[in-house]
Amino acid sequence: MERITLSCPCHFGLERTLKFEISRIGGENISASDGRVEFEGDISLIARANICLATAERVQIKLGEFKADTFDMLFEGVKKLPLERFIPKNGAFPVKGHSLNSKLTSIPACQSIIKKAAADRLCGKYGVGFMEETGAVYQLSFNIIKDRAVIYLDTSGEGLHKRGYRRNANAAPIRETLAAGIVDIAMVKRDTVFCDPFCGSGTLLIEAAYKALNIAPGLKRKFAAEKWECISGEIWRNERTRAMDGIIKDSSFYAYGYDIDPECVELSRANCVKAGVKNRIRIDRADIRSYENKADTLTVCNPPYGERMLEIREAEELYRIMGKVFAGDAAHPCAVISPHEDFESFFGKKADKQRKLYNGMMKCRLYSYYRG
Ligand SMILES: C[S@@+](CC[C@H](N)C(=O)[O-])C[C@H]1O[C@@H](n2cnc3c(N)ncnc32)[C@H](O)[C@@H]1O
Repeated sequence: MERITLSCPCHFGLERTLKFEISRIGGENISASDGRVEFEGDISLIARANICLATAERVQIKLGEFKADTFDMLFEGVKKLPLERFIPKNGAFPVKGHSLNSKLTSIPACQSIIKKAAADRLCGKYGVGFMEETGAVYQLSFNIIKDRAVIYLDTSGEGLHKRGYRRNANAAPIRETLAAGIVDIAMVKRDTVFCDPFCGSGTLLIEAAYKALNIAPGLKRKFAAEKWECISGEIWRNERTRAMDGIIKDSSFYAYGYDIDPECVELSRANCVKAGVKNRIRIDRADIRSYENKADTLTVCNPPYGERMLEIREAEELYRIMGKVFAGDAAHPCAVISPHEDFESFFGKKADKQRKLYNGMMKCRLYSYYRG
C-alpha cells in the first residue's frame, strides 16, 4: 500500500505523550517538534489515528514542504503537490493558514495564491476549465515559518478534542485533549482508583476512564475524511471494530468526582452518561475542605486558577487547603495542574516531578507528588 506522511498538532508539552500514542497505533518514523508530531503509515492509519489518538488536536496529511519567500515560489511549490491523489474532480478545497517570521506576511494573499495553484493543478489533471467544488470538503492549510511553507490536508474536520460527550461545559473546562495528556502523565492504569475533587464538567474523570478502559476517544464521532472517496467505508468500519475489540472489560477502574457547585455536579453526571462511562464514575457535591484522601487513590485535578473564576488570593487559599488534605505520597499520589509560579510554596511541598504544559496560551505545570 502507498505510504503517506501524517502530522498531528498537539498541546505544547504533550509531544512525548502523543509520540508514544502514535507508536502504539503503528505509526512509523515518528518525529516530534514543538506542538506537532509527524509519522508515516498507510492510508488506514488516517482512520485509526482519528479514532484512537487522545492527545492529538487533529490528523493532517502532510502534502509537501518547500522554500517560499515570494508568491511565485509559493505558487510553483503548491502546483507540484500531488493533490489529485486525494482531491477528486468535485472536491471542495478551502484554504487557511498562518505565517510567522517570513517575507510572505499577508494571509489572504497566501490563501488566494495557494487556491489558484491548487485549482490550476487539479483543472489540468481533470481536464476541466474550473473546479465545481460541489463535493466533500478537503481543507488545505499552510504554515509558513521562516520562509518555509508546509502544506497540509486536514482529515479530521472538527478538532479531535470534540469527542461528542461534552455538549455542555462549566465556566472553565479543560480541553479534552489536554485532560487526556494529564491522565496519561499521572499514570492512570486499568485498575486505578481515581479522584478529581474539582471536577467541573467531568473532563478529567471521563478521560481517565477512557484511558483505563482503553476506549478510543473518537469512537462516537465522525471525521471529514469519512466522506472522501480515497478512503473506503470498509477501512473506517474495520478501524472502529478494532477499537471496540480493544476496550478492556475486566478492569476494576473506578472514579470519584466532587465539586462545590451543584450545577457542575449535574453537568458532570450528564457528561459521564453521554460518554458511556457512568457505571465507572460517581459524582457528589463536596467542598475540598472536607476531602478525605483515601489510600490507593490517584487524585488529579485542575483547580480554579484565579484569572478566570476566582480571585488569585482565593485560588492560593485553595492550594493551601489542598496541601493539607492531599497526602501526596506513594499510597496517595496526586497531580495538580496550575499556572501559579509559586504553587509549591502555597501547597507546602516541593513536587516529586513537574511537567510544563500549556493550557491554551497559558503556561502551566503539572505538579506530581508520589514519593512522600
Ligand atoms: C477550573 S474548574 C475545573 C474544570 C474541569 N477540569 C473541567 O474540565 O470541567 C474548577 C472547579 O472547581 C470548583 N470549585 C471551586 N471551589 C471549590 C471548592 N472549595 N471545593 C470544590 N470545588 C470547588 C468550581 O466549581 C469549578 O467547577
